[in-house]
Amino acid sequence: MEDKIQSSPEEVSEQELAYLEMQADMGITKHMGGIKATEELIELCDIDKGKYVLDVGCGIGTTACYLAKRYGCRVVGVDISEKMIDWSNERAKREGVENRVKFRVADAQNLPFEDTIFDAVICESVIAFIKEKQKSVSEYVRVTKKGGYVGLNEATWIKAQPSSEILEYLSHTVEKVEFLTSDGWEEMLKESGLKDIVVRTYKVSATSEFFDRVKLLGFKRILEAWYRFLSMCIVDLAYRKYTRKMIKESLNMPKGIFEYWGYGIYVGRK
Ligand SMILES: C[S@@+](CC[C@H](N)C(=O)[O-])C[C@H]1O[C@@H](n2cnc3c(N)ncnc32)[C@H](O)[C@@H]1O
Repeated sequence: MEDKIQSSPEEVSEQELAYLEMQADMGITKHMGGIKATEELIELCDIDKGKYVLDVGCGIGTTACYLAKRYGCRVVGVDISEKMIDWSNERAKREGVENRVKFRVADAQNLPFEDTIFDAVICESVIAFIKEKQKSVSEYVRVTKKGGYVGLNEATWIKAQPSSEILEYLSHTVEKVEFLTSDGWEEMLKESGLKDIVVRTYKVSATSEFFDRVKLLGFKRILEAWYRFLSMCIVDLAYRKYTRKMIKESLNMPKGIFEYWGYGIYVGRK
């Protein structure tokens, strides 16, 4: 199977209200595998108290705050979206970890940090959305100390040749995104000079994803996010259009999609 399987440019350009933009408005982000996958990255990247960690594409700051609170790390979270950084700062304040976590707007493809300063760089469900994937991984390696770790959690084609129905479905629901096979993601880590690479792939299901998300974010936060979404639907035509599209798409979810589409944990040492 090819390393990259991408939806056609025409399908991508049709999307108006982007998936990530909607998440930023709702104040919700996620990655496959939830907290269990985050714990696995933490262990493989040898993260514990006293470590200085960068979380690239931190979204609403869930993992960065978790690292500070549970593990006592010093953490920097960056995201391309200002709204996500606002949510992250709010979360850090709410969780009382502002002294250990700092957030700032930055592009994964061009990180505003000196070389070799972090013990570990982690990145959950971000590179699939980025155009210059290899450049991003090389940036993560650049800012990592010698002997430190880079760890990714990325959506992955876990079985060869998904049907055109599956490809089309994903191009409509999670647009402007490019998933790779595990070989593709692994190659990217190798290309950027990482060693001792660990690759683990996992299947998910719609049910496991739902419960993982509840565990990660809490039921209250999810309800609040949906309340915001519904409020936006009332005032914004683009949201109403998007919702209609999403409902139609979910009813048409191809059978067997999770046989092909899962996630992978990819970790390498500098
Ligand atoms: C699916 S969300 C995952 C967020 C978070 N890592 C999590 O697991 O909840 C992807 C995030 O990547 C961010 N992102 C996309 N492109 C980026 C880039 N070039 N640089 C930094 N962040 C980016 C988005 O704004 C979004 O917050």
